[in-house]
Amino acid sequence: MPESFFILSKDYPELASDEIIAISKMYDRFAKAKVISNLVIIQSKTSWTEITRRASFVKVSGQILRKMSGLFLDENNFQILKNANTFVCRIINLSTKQFDIPELENSMGDMISKFSHAKVELEDPDITIYLIFTDRESFFGFSKRVIKINRPKKIKNHPHELDWKLTRVMINLIGLKEGETVCDPFCGTGTTLLEAESMGIHAIGLDFDEKMYKISKENLKANGYKSKVFKSDFQELSKISEKFDGIVTDLPYGIASKVSEKPEEILKKFFSILPKRKRMAIMYKKELDSNLELGGLKKYEIYRHKSLTRTILIK
Ligand SMILES: C[S@@+](CC[C@H](N)C(=O)[O-])C[C@H]1O[C@@H](n2cnc3c(N)ncnc32)[C@H](O)[C@@H]1O
Repeated sequence: MPESFFILSKDYPELASDEIIAISKMYDRFAKAKVISNLVIIQSKTSWTEITRRASFVKVSGQILRKMSGLFLDENNFQILKNANTFVCRIINLSTKQFDIPELENSMGDMISKFSHAKVELEDPDITIYLIFTDRESFFGFSKRVIKINRPKKIKNHPHELDWKLTRVMINLIGLKEGETVCDPFCGTGTTLLEAESMGIHAIGLDFDEKMYKISKENLKANGYKSKVFKSDFQELSKISEKFDGIVTDLPYGIASKVSEKPEEILKKFFSILPKRKRMAIMYKKELDSNLELGGLKKYEIYRHKSLTRTILIK
């Protein structure tokens, strides 16, 4: 079974590694994962390019060719360069040992040049060869250019809108696949709808505020997306529950957006009407749930600033 590696940004380490694991299990439920600091190793039928394309926090990714006990490499390791014109070597040191990284990268480049016709190119090479050192084990792998998905355009913004990466992570954590449908009952500017559509997932949005409803519609139209948006209260959700597979949403905080009633009341009511047997990723201001017993599979805390920590609850 092929093994892939993912070096993740350190902004939200647990969220980032859980996202990679969730994506790999979504397409192959027997996928196995190993997390070593901000490195995730995945054994799965799903290719590293597929996983990378959906993920939010990947800095570098590629395929592992073999685990290494030392720095020994031979000609067979460089078959991957057969059809490449250019390459570069990169060392990623996640171990506590010190290495002279530029020196190592140069000498590896020299060594490879002896086996292969490919030339070193530092910017945008065909193949990047990686040596990844950790305290436990080291890995030898490679990466090719990944075709990036075009980001959806947002022509109208609002101060309360959610960061697209956190939105995308929530969609991935509940394992929504292409062709399924997500509902955001507090859709605001439509971030969930835009992210979902850019991943091939259909979306339905609700917002009780006329202004936000219109912004969502305009943002969708600017991308030619067909998601449906309704100007209605979140409680309409229970009437349309057979139309979607999961919920991804960010509840009002009572700061920048209009609210129909106190945010804690909205949260309480919202949890009381949630449909059964749907996958859900729900974000809300952390202290709002202090008197509520909200059961779920996992909770993440997202620190924003000293007066705002948000919770993402996975149900
Ligand atoms: C935190 S914002 C959502 C932001 C959104 N994720 C985005 O990226 O733009 C919460 C939204 O809930 C909406 N809202 C407040 N009370 C509502 C209610 N009773 N029913 C539906 N929407 C409501 C507000 O108008 C606001 O757009």
